[in-house]
Amino acid sequence: MKSRALLGLLADGQVHSGESLAASLGISRTAIWKQIRRAMDEGLRIETIRGKGYRLLTEMDLLDQNQILEGLNAPRRSAIELTVLDEVDSTNAEIVRRRRESVNGRVPVCIADCQTAGRGRRGRQWQSPPGQNLYLSLGLTFRGSFAMLDGLSLVLGVAVAEALEQVGVPEVGLKWPNDIFLAGSKLAGILVELQGELEEGVVQVVAGIGMNIHMTDAAGVDQAWVSLAGALPERRWCRNEVAASVIESVLGAVDDFARKGFGDFRERWQSRDIFAGQELMASQGELAGTGHGIDHSGNYLIATGDELVKVRAGEISLRVRS
Ligand code: BTN
Repeated sequence: MKSRALLGLLADGQVHSGESLAASLGISRTAIWKQIRRAMDEGLRIETIRGKGYRLLTEMDLLDQNQILEGLNAPRRSAIELTVLDEVDSTNAEIVRRRRESVNGRVPVCIADCQTAGRGRRGRQWQSPPGQNLYLSLGLTFRGSFAMLDGLSLVLGVAVAEALEQVGVPEVGLKWPNDIFLAGSKLAGILVELQGELEEGVVQVVAGIGMNIHMTDAAGVDQAWVSLAGALPERRWCRNEVAASVIESVLGAVDDFARKGFGDFRERWQSRDIFAGQELMASQGELAGTGHGIDHSGNYLIATGDELVKVRAGEISLRVRS
């Protein structure tokens, strides 16, 4: 979105004269007009009122770094390095690049308005249109071994579910290992990627969260999905508020996990399990049974007649038997 600063001024829905917009942005009125035309070509509805100026008719939910930072507790604010971008290939890839350059000890967090090469789990693409959703990545560092990553993936699911509940979303579900579900469809996904090798007991991880906020149609998404605005249209959703809640909740949960391990998270995960008591099967048909929650390490348990079979994240994907 090239005209982001202009849209920031118009976002209040009031009439703004070309002259005042030009003065605020330090450009000519002709340049303002060109940006207005471009924004209209990109699909925004802008009214031109002769002799008065311009009024934005499309409701905008712009990302704003200051608003996101204001939504965080003061200690958290100073513990992170937040970057908000208009466009990037993938916020996960951006965290990897930024980490190579910066060693200031703060947690790098990157949010983008759109991604040109958004990545999903299992090598899938993650549809990332502009102005609609949340694409957020954090660079996390742990002391320990790769074995902790299975638990981490579920901890992140719990943290995102709790962040949504904090901003008033009811009945958030988790689909093992960490898809976030609302009203029976996928609302958000989490991609955990390792950065580099295990060095002196330190593991570096990039955790990327994609959440549908305003999206109403999406070509190329191959599973049932929902957005916050689609499921809960009576509320006006603000990406900055949701982003702050997610950052706060994820970093709080990650601190707890690093200090105390997975123990506390088992019940918090289990209470949101959408597979519990459902007839399930593994994606290749190699296993079928009833959903029985998770064990102390985050493996999923399937009751098959007389035994409980353990399934490890990453090895098998599960779905409800139709
Ligand atoms: C999934 O397949 O369910 C995981 C999707 C994760 C998407 C997010 S969007 C922000 C971050 N950047 C990426 O390229 N992917 C993750």
